[in-house]
Amino acid sequence: MAEEILIAADHAAVELKRKLAAELKNLGFKVRDLGTDSTESTDYPDYAQPLANEISEGKAKRGVLLCGTGLGMSYVANRYPNVRAAVTWSPEVAELARSHNDANVLVLPARFLTDENAVQILRTWLDTPFE
Ligand code: RB5
Repeated sequence: MAEEILIAADHAAVELKRKLAAELKNLGFKVRDLGTDSTESTDYPDYAQPLANEISEGKAKRGVLLCGTGLGMSYVANRYPNVRAAVTWSPEVAELARSHNDANVLVLPARFLTDENAVQILRTWLDTPFE
């Protein structure tokens, strides 16, 4: 059975969230999109909390959070037990976030990444095991 991956973003990252959700589906994952679906201004905790809570409780193994800088999403997610959320801006950082830090939530700074870069980061994070 395909692994379910959670994904959520605030208004600053809706477009990138759509692209990464499509990429995850193409890679064979089941994607559960927790919003937001509009560019209307939102509060990032409203999207980080449900995702982090599910990871924390073991209802899903991995998740992807996106906002403008990645910072707000990471602040919120890392308050939850068992969540290791890593703000990641390059494939090299994604590799280390997995191999050294066992990051189970990938946090992306949408305003500072090209789509191509974000896809490379996502793929690296998905493929790299914890050492
Ligand atoms: C929204 O403008 C922006 O503050 C938010 O996406 C995020 O960067 C917060 O950390």
